[in-house]
Amino acid sequence: MLRDAWISPGLAGEPRMIRRPGSGGQARPRFSLATGLPGPQNPLMRVLGIETSCDETGVAVHDTAAGLLAHALHSQVALHAEYGGVVPELASRDHVRRLLPLVRQVLAEAGLTPADLDGVAYTAGPGLVGALMVGAAAGRALAWALGVPAVAVHHMEGHLLAPMLDDPDLKPPFVALLVSGGHTQLVQVRAVGDYELLGETLDDAAGEAFDKTAKLMGLPYPGGPELARLAEQGRPDRFRFARPMTDRPGLDFSFSGLKTQVLLAWQGSDQEAQTRADLARGFEDAVVDTLAIKCARALDRTGADTLVVAGGVGANRRLREKLQALAAERGARVRFPRPAFCTDNGAMIAFAGALRLQAGQREPAAVNVTPRWDMASLPAV
Ligand code: KG4
Ligand code: ZN
Repeated sequence: MLRDAWISPGLAGEPRMIRRPGSGGQARPRFSLATGLPGPQNPLMRVLGIETSCDETGVAVHDTAAGLLAHALHSQVALHAEYGGVVPELASRDHVRRLLPLVRQVLAEAGLTPADLDGVAYTAGPGLVGALMVGAAAGRALAWALGVPAVAVHHMEGHLLAPMLDDPDLKPPFVALLVSGGHTQLVQVRAVGDYELLGETLDDAAGEAFDKTAKLMGLPYPGGPELARLAEQGRPDRFRFARPMTDRPGLDFSFSGLKTQVLLAWQGSDQEAQTRADLARGFEDAVVDTLAIKCARALDRTGADTLVVAGGVGANRRLREKLQALAAERGARVRFPRPAFCTDNGAMIAFAGALRLQAGQREPAAVNVTPRWDMASLPAV
């Protein structure tokens, strides 16, 4: 019973039961909690952002008046390449090595000293627990030492807000397609911090499907961008794979069957270079079409006129083109972060953290990370 009647206090404080439309009455939480936190609203702030949730150390400074002042990224691709995937302990150790030099570099590039910072934001989840601990411990300690507030940022909220970094006019409400290595979600964004999950993957995330499919065709790690590059030389009509779960209503996804289809086609093929490129193209078209079909449905269902796309797969050229065309047909608009801010970065964490710090949110002087973290549980800004 309780499962079906999830109750969330609304912004005004009255209880509100939210049902997920069109899902046979299955309730999904829609969180919209009044923060009740003290603190000045909308002060001007310079915020240091730290991202260490996986295999990239990202650092940035965001100024709430002037925008992004500086950012830097260290990718661990070379470190993990020989293992064919991310080795969590190696990732943590590399974050330890890289983080403080990157902070110094970014502050120097922004022409700032640590004393110029008004707050520190760090990714506290979801992600690899050891990797998260590095950024959280360093970020929280730095804020403590400087006597400024710290805030823990949800990695996916960072992705979701990243398109606003370069587009100050972009504001909710909108529908967001979050497509990363760990998540594939459609989210109705009514306000910053007011998120309703419309649909998500039941198995592999879109980025994960790119990575696994690349691996089974023998492409080097990290496979996703490599497979996308290969697909550029592939012919669109040689392999046609299913568009999973588009033949039934709903906004959920499933991508794990697709990689099996590619595997079988690969095993039964001549395994020549052109065949591999054609398979990559067939796979990419299937993922892109599937994502586009569900985005159109989400826009229909919510009545939204703006689609925001974020996360690593948002860097995919064909996906960007397809969704641009879809938006143009419907008189809607679609917004992406610049490709460098689709994948993990410190700028999105500095930006999301600055919004929350401006709204008065603060972390107590303790280091907590949340490796599994439901974004719908965030308080409203
Ligand atoms: O957002 P992100 O950097 O990290 C996570 O939060 O997971 O996303 C990484 C994912 C990887 O699965 C990677 O293969 C995928 O994004 N990706 C791409 C492209 N660039 C990165 N997938 C398809 N096409 C691309 N151009
Ligand atoms: Zn990410």
